[in-house]
Amino acid sequence: MGLTAALNKHLRAGELFAALESVTRPSAKWTGATFDVFNPSTGELLATLPDMGTDEAHAAIDAAAAAQSLWAAKPAKDRSAILRRWHDLIVEHVDDLAAILTAEMGKPLAEAKGEVLHAASYVEWYAEEAKRVYGETFPAPANDRRMLVIKQPVGVVGTITPWNFPASMVARKISPALAAGCAVVLKPAEQTPLVAGAMFVLAEKAGFPKGVVNLIYAAEGAPIGRELCSNPKVRKISFTGSTEVGRLLMRQCSDQIKKVSLELGGNAPFIVFDDADIDEAVEGAVQAKFRNAGQTCVSANRIYVQSAVHDAFAEKFVTRVRELTVGDGFSAGVAIGPMIDSHAIEKIEAHVADALAKGGEVRCGGRRIGTNGTFFEPTVLTGISHVMRVAQEETFGPIAPIIRFETTEQVVAEANDTIYGLAAYFYAENLKRVWHVAEALEYGMVGINTGRMSSEAAPFGGIKQSGIGREGSRHGLEDYLEMKYLCMGNI
Ligand code: SIN
Repeated sequence: MGLTAALNKHLRAGELFAALESVTRPSAKWTGATFDVFNPSTGELLATLPDMGTDEAHAAIDAAAAAQSLWAAKPAKDRSAILRRWHDLIVEHVDDLAAILTAEMGKPLAEAKGEVLHAASYVEWYAEEAKRVYGETFPAPANDRRMLVIKQPVGVVGTITPWNFPASMVARKISPALAAGCAVVLKPAEQTPLVAGAMFVLAEKAGFPKGVVNLIYAAEGAPIGRELCSNPKVRKISFTGSTEVGRLLMRQCSDQIKKVSLELGGNAPFIVFDDADIDEAVEGAVQAKFRNAGQTCVSANRIYVQSAVHDAFAEKFVTRVRELTVGDGFSAGVAIGPMIDSHAIEKIEAHVADALAKGGEVRCGGRRIGTNGTFFEPTVLTGISHVMRVAQEETFGPIAPIIRFETTEQVVAEANDTIYGLAAYFYAENLKRVWHVAEALEYGMVGINTGRMSSEAAPFGGIKQSGIGREGSRHGLEDYLEMKYLCMGNI
């Protein structure tokens, strides 16, 4: 049990490995089950971890609850200083954290490094925001009273993070919670628990008091989710993952009217209008579609191109997509890593088959690489219509289906015809059109002439069945604060 040489060989000094080894290797007393973590590129075993269950989740919640009031009572400046130290340690260990991330998740090393720095930027942002939790005063309707609002932490927060951004999602959830004065319990995705473990090693080194940050390794999310939702000591759940699981957690939280922040599935339209700069639109589409091999909630899922520029866009886009190299994230020049597992590949294959059966055409790619591997060719499909599965469901893979459209009204109606409302993108130059389309798209985030929006300084989140709440910016902190109205009479 513990970490294997297949992981250690990617780490620089071995210092982080040793610390991670000590927290991932259960004590001799552990008699419970274990689970394995594999490298999706090579199939190598990276670690065998204790498979924790309801009892351990219960104990972690108790530890957080015991630490809660002391953490909340700490001056904001002190909480900020600890977060700041955690940020510095993450940056100092960026190479090792990125290597762990690439080993367990597969994304190219440069992208993994970018993600770790992005994670650090949330920690830094909330180290600063911790000092800016302001209240409010209200002019009272009578002179003998004063009316004001103070903000207080919601209490213990249970967080569940996904495998596609295993470092940045941890930071994006727990750093605002910690800044607000909440103790946290984290269940990272079972496919990618190691980078979260390494970040917790660094959190401990940064000086978070005992019980303030708690990590649960588990092969099954469901029992841990149930405990987090049903245990009355947990006051809020923050989850990133599928809409289906989000609905379940929300139902489980309803008995106690527990607060929820949910960042769920998407079906992002990427629209290219006839006045767009086509070269820039091609680059934006490559970014929005193929970052993380298409395994992001904000991935461009369906690319709408106006008739007059459809062929020119498709040709340039296909040329650009053919340049993307697929392979092991540790190999130089690789732009697209593996899919997380064989289920992901099967879903992609089913979407491509459905599109072809209904009249779509493969312009490049279209197949898995090898018979058993988890690599899929970056693919462009044309002749796609809004009713095909690739346009209706989140593919979560490197498949770019292009749909031809004629008018603004038509494309806005099709873009909005989905239960999801996370991210949308469009390229256009005409200012009147830009405002009209930006306001008409029913999404929590709209990228205009850009294929990338995620930032610690901006509120990330969706509407409709894509979620509740925002992460990043000052709004991300508000999600972990309660408002308390104080009315002082007889003054
Ligand atoms: C996602 O949640 O899948 C996207 C994360 C990001 O772009 O930061």
